[in-house]
Amino acid sequence: MLTQQQATENVLAGIQIKERSKVNKKVLVLSSSPRRGGNSDLLCDQFTSGAKESGNNVEKIFLKDKRINYCTGCGTCIDRGKSCPQKDDMAEVLDKMVAADIIVMATPVYFYTMCAQMKTLIDRTCSRYTRITNKEFYFIVTAADSNNQAMERTLEEFRGFTYCLEDAKEKGVIYGTGAWEKGEIKGKLAMEEAYQLGMSV
Ligand SMILES: Cc1cc2nc3c(=O)[nH]c(=O)nc-3n(C[C@H](O)[C@H](O)[C@H](O)COP(=O)(O)O)c2cc1C
Repeated sequence: MLTQQQATENVLAGIQIKERSKVNKKVLVLSSSPRRGGNSDLLCDQFTSGAKESGNNVEKIFLKDKRINYCTGCGTCIDRGKSCPQKDDMAEVLDKMVAADIIVMATPVYFYTMCAQMKTLIDRTCSRYTRITNKEFYFIVTAADSNNQAMERTLEEFRGFTYCLEDAKEKGVIYGTGAWEKGEIKGKLAMEEAYQLGMSV
């Protein structure tokens, strides 16, 4: 027969286990806008703050800080099963993508598609995309257009990538729409939504 104190301790231990399983996920935020402190980058920061606040291990990579060359389609990885011959920063980013539990991909909308920096990164996952398994994905898009529906084409491009991955789950989208100037997103609902979505991971 348990004493009242033992029963209480068991309940608290149960809550702690539950809390532990909720926290400490590895979250990787990939910010692809060439504008540091731009609208999508600000939304990345909001997501990051929320995810940190709820106890997760979060890293944001501002892609412009990295040297990531185009995939040349040389076939070294796909046809010959070798690692990518390009010696740039992509190997390090790929390691982080493979290790993450959650990947956030943020892009400004350029001509109703994702920006070139994000597409370049996606193409360069070629050598190890089969190792990017069982991840949860969040997408952030920013655009001058205030019509969320017009973002679908860009979101479908992200989905083209996750379609190629094993057990990828899309968990949420932040629409940073109606924002043209750098920083115009401040004060819009998307800022709070990004924070809350980060908190909820
Ligand atoms: C080259 C270029 C193309 C753009 N194309 C579009 C577009 O097709 N639709 C749109 O709504 N906004 C477009 N924009 C506006 C950006 O999406 C908008 O400024 C966005 O907030 C940029 O996000 P950022 O601050 O994270 O870079 C374009 C901007 C640039 C520089």
